[in-house]
Amino acid sequence: MGHIEKLKKLPPDREKVETVKILRQLSKSSQSLGELKGIAKTIPNQSMLINAVVLQEAKDSSEIENIITTQDELYKAIASQGKQPPQVKEVINYRKAIFTGFELIRYQGFLRVKDLETIQKTIIKNNAGIRVMPGTVLKNDKTGEIVYTPPQEKDEILDLLNNFLEHFNNNQTDLHPLINLAILHSQFESIHPFYDGNGRTGRILNILYLIINDLLDIPNLYLSSYINKNKSNYYKYLNQVNETGQWEEYILYMLKAVEETANYTIEKINQIKNQLEVTIEKVKEEAPKVYRKELIELLFEQPYAKIEFVVEKLKVERKAASRYLKNLKDIGILKSEKIGREILYLNTELIEILSRTI
Ligand SMILES: Nc1ncnc2c1ncn2[C@@H]1O[C@H](COP(=O)(O)OP(=O)(O)OP(=O)(O)O)[C@@H](O)[C@H]1O
Ligand SMILES: [Mg+2]
Repeated sequence: MGHIEKLKKLPPDREKVETVKILRQLSKSSQSLGELKGIAKTIPNQSMLINAVVLQEAKDSSEIENIITTQDELYKAIASQGKQPPQVKEVINYRKAIFTGFELIRYQGFLRVKDLETIQKTIIKNNAGIRVMPGTVLKNDKTGEIVYTPPQEKDEILDLLNNFLEHFNNNQTDLHPLINLAILHSQFESIHPFYDGNGRTGRILNILYLIINDLLDIPNLYLSSYINKNKSNYYKYLNQVNETGQWEEYILYMLKAVEETANYTIEKINQIKNQLEVTIEKVKEEAPKVYRKELIELLFEQPYAKIEFVVEKLKVERKAASRYLKNLKDIGILKSEKIGREILYLNTELIEILSRTI
């Protein structure tokens, strides 16, 4: 174990990454992903879901580092202006990093080494950048045994990263982008260009790669939840690629991750859309005076609302905003909670949907 030859540049041998099993799984994965892309387009207000979904992805991805925070605790902590515990900060930073990457892709359509550094820096909050000091090795969590030694020299790291980016930015092969996604992810993790945050940066790159390739319009796939739930296989298969050059099981794993999480996200979006409808109807019926479409949509942009959000979005006075939220609370749509000097209004049904595993 642990004996590995030098990390090879992309692309790998075609026959290793395009087996019959892989192609069979591929058609299922790309069908699910296509459905997700389609359904996301039917959401009335695009920004409405992104926040909630991205926050979920951020939470799941960060949880890989053993962060235990319940959903509503997390939302409350995020919304409050007080001092935040480090785990909450991490989730917030991860979410910020997804949006930073999304903006880069939308704005320039490709990523450079310095963009990778920007994304990683947003997560990790230090300026170390690409590794320059040798000594980084990957160990088995439990046994402490070294399982993989990534390239150590900065020049080699940069050389491999540039090769990685050439393939990331433009498909250099005619392999299906979902197969490339898996290959690129393994390559990035194996280059392991940073001292820390390689996993989280790599998981953000996965989503951005889907957007570059038009497989998604917005960052709305909960890929990390699958990796989180099936972590030991994830490590096992990554290891296998590095040790034996066997890609099949690893690629199948990643394709299944795409299929399952796409299906899961479709289901979530349907539930959220449905809940939005139910909420609109209820407000129209039970509190017609405060009914505003934008107000209800606001309650679905983040699972919590504050008076100032309403002031900003609806361009109304504080007093009116406060009254709207109180009315919604009275008819049971929101629950209020006092955090410090602020009142937070939680969309409990939405939080319930977001926390539910299907
Ligand atoms: N044998 C291996 N070969 C290649 N990559 C590996 C191997 N084992 C683990 N990794 C990658 O290293 C990542 C962890 O690296 P690092 O600690 O820098 O990232 P992180 O974002 O801090 O952690 P995490 O991914 O656990 O949230 C894992 O997520 C995985 O992708
Ligand atoms: Mg780490």
